[in-house]
Amino acid sequence: MPFPENFIWGAATASYQIEGAHDQDGKGPSIWDSFCRIPGKTYQGHTGDVACDHYHRYKEDVALMKSIGLRAYRLSISWSRILPEGNGSINEKGISFYDRLIDELLEANIEPWITLYHWDLPLALHYQGGWLSPNSPVWFEKYTRVVVKRLSDRVRHWFTINEPQVFIGLGYAKGEHAPGWKLSFAECLQAGHNALLAHGRSVLAIREEAASDPLIGASPVGICARPKTEKLIDIDAAKTATFAVSQPKDHSPRELQGALWNSAWWMDPLFLGKYPESGLKAFHGFVPAFPESDMEVVNQPLDFFGANIYHGLTVESNPHNGYTILNPPEGSPVNSMGWDITPDILYWGGKFFHERYKLPIVITENGMPAVEIPDENGQIDDTPRAEFIKSYLRGVERGLKEGLPFMGYFYWSFLDNFEWAYGYSQRFGLTHIDYKTLSRMPKKSSSEYARIIRMNSLESPSPTEETSEMPSLLD
Ligand code: GAL
Repeated sequence: MPFPENFIWGAATASYQIEGAHDQDGKGPSIWDSFCRIPGKTYQGHTGDVACDHYHRYKEDVALMKSIGLRAYRLSISWSRILPEGNGSINEKGISFYDRLIDELLEANIEPWITLYHWDLPLALHYQGGWLSPNSPVWFEKYTRVVVKRLSDRVRHWFTINEPQVFIGLGYAKGEHAPGWKLSFAECLQAGHNALLAHGRSVLAIREEAASDPLIGASPVGICARPKTEKLIDIDAAKTATFAVSQPKDHSPRELQGALWNSAWWMDPLFLGKYPESGLKAFHGFVPAFPESDMEVVNQPLDFFGANIYHGLTVESNPHNGYTILNPPEGSPVNSMGWDITPDILYWGGKFFHERYKLPIVITENGMPAVEIPDENGQIDDTPRAEFIKSYLRGVERGLKEGLPFMGYFYWSFLDNFEWAYGYSQRFGLTHIDYKTLSRMPKKSSSEYARIIRMNSLESPSPTEETSEMPSLLD
């Protein structure tokens, strides 16, 4: 059986995308609360004010997770729910929500994996410069200490910052995400450097404060490439493309965001203790000056590499400059957000990241958006999502067969939720949310994922095994 007994089958969400209760029980506003109120920033002016109302319905949600058989749940903490000003007094009611949620999860035998920052910076800190402020690493360290002191008696797995490529690239360069800034390249790189320092200080703080031995990872995103053929030269080309850093063609917000969308600029400092040479060359003239000691802070030992991977580029070798990015063949499948469906990318991404950073790999996000309407019985037959999950997991299966240390897989997302600038127009969930009534309905993919977890295998059972299985969640 390719999946080890202790393989971590999980699903993920993030605070602003599901919690709602945006101003309840003492929570302070975050940059997303304010950004969504700017006309034109999100699809039809959608906000996370109510979202999935997980804040009030978490018990029902945990029960659903249990019925799928999830072994772990990746959630994020809303910084301003705990520290309404970002850096001041603690909101006990905010902490108490996560206390109750974690207890509920443990009761259901589901391990909480906590992301400390999934983009919802306290608004009060934004007004003090946000990630551009040299104080931001200290703010993040202090916040980390509060959370870890209170929750580490029951939480062992931690992530620091989710996808700096996105919250700096889309938030500070392109202006499409909160806080909607369009900063200069030098400022973006400074803010990015601060975020990396914040990661390092946070890891140190987790190790100091944790009640028991913590396991810590990062969860970046970025370019992932797969080879057109399995010839060695194409594989090398795909690896080169995965870690390439390119110069922006001009300094338009779009180009700057494009240049920040890469893997090595963000991950090499974390895992190797230095910015990549190719990046220093491509970004020359804009990289902030910093003391050597910064990289010692950034480069903390980590326990696993969390990879958020949704799709990949296809490349082939090119004798002149290493690789050529190929356009997908006419008619290739794409999802509702226009992303190519490239199932083997979990294999190639996991392999390349492991080869470069030498850590076990956890797929911390992978999922498929769709625009879905329930049928007349209120059910969602999302067979394409179920197929998506299976086909992508084949890459993990292949990696495991070849001895690559894949530790787990977290489907994004457990619930349909607020998809940032796309609002509620895109649904990624295993569970359908009716945003009018807030009722939950497991989709077909939910039963399929439950079956994979139960069998620890992607293979469909024989008809006899099928009848002895537990009933489908949709029955
Ligand atoms: C990730 C992000 C998630 C989710 C997902 C789907 O980049 O971490 O919050 O939105 O993409 O777009």
